[in-house]
Amino acid sequence: MELLQLNSGTAIPQLGLGTSKSGEPDRAVASGLEVGYRHIDTAQMYQNETAVGEGIRVSGVPRDEIFLTTKLHNPHHAPEDVHRTFEESLQRLGVDYVDLFLIHWPMPFDKTDYVDTWRTMIELRDSGRARAIGVSNFVQDHLDRIIEATGVTPAVNQIEVHPTFANNELRQYCRERGIVVTAWSPLGKGDELNLPAVREIAERHDRTPAQVILRWHLQRGDVVIPKSDNPERQRSNFDVFSFELSPNDMDALDALDRGEDGRRSPHPNDFGKE
Ligand code: A2P
Repeated sequence: MELLQLNSGTAIPQLGLGTSKSGEPDRAVASGLEVGYRHIDTAQMYQNETAVGEGIRVSGVPRDEIFLTTKLHNPHHAPEDVHRTFEESLQRLGVDYVDLFLIHWPMPFDKTDYVDTWRTMIELRDSGRARAIGVSNFVQDHLDRIIEATGVTPAVNQIEVHPTFANNELRQYCRERGIVVTAWSPLGKGDELNLPAVREIAERHDRTPAQVILRWHLQRGDVVIPKSDNPERQRSNFDVFSFELSPNDMDALDALDRGEDGRRSPHPNDFGKE
């Protein structure tokens, strides 16, 4: 398993298991850990932290072998709510620390300025109960503001990235500042598996379309967290370290980028506007 170094001093497994919209998160997490995943991604918003914690316990895999991420839900940005709901997350997960805690969305129109939310995240990091802190769905302006105000650079920015929305400008910005990018919906919620270019490359390598897309992410240097409830698909999604895409394959996949038209969720500046 490849590890990427975080600016916090800890390291994150480059391939993790996503749990958003998992129909049976306890079983999915237990089987994912059995398959070999050692990085699990959840969030307060997914309302599945209790089940994720249950899956971890059922698996028997020691806590300290697992990289566990959760995220602050949008209504909880006020400093006292950050502290309170972080404690609740730890309780639901049944752990005494998380490896990474993220602000889920910047909420630029919220009554609490996300800079103040970030200051509170720094307190949690200093307490040792969030080993690393970061953000999700932040764009350049949001990142500039929190870094300038606090001098603390997020360890991770978890953002939408998949072949039709390669998000390269923001990825480059993060790279220049030592922020690791985690790609959410790396398979475009499963919809990009049928793209002809993806299928053609998969056939040539005798691999699945999902393995090809995951390999594209890994070779671009990002962390990926594909979600699957199915143990067989979990297993094949995990088996992506024994083949390599050629520069030509990478070019063909890069050419699928449709810029802003490829986005599947609102621009972070529009999220929560109304
Ligand atoms: P399932 O959980 O039934 O496997 P993303 O992570 O981009 O949001 O994509 C998740 C979606 O892709 C889920 O609907 C998941 O369904 C599906 N999926 C995950 N891995 C594969 C795979 N290897 N082949 C086909 N579909 C997959």
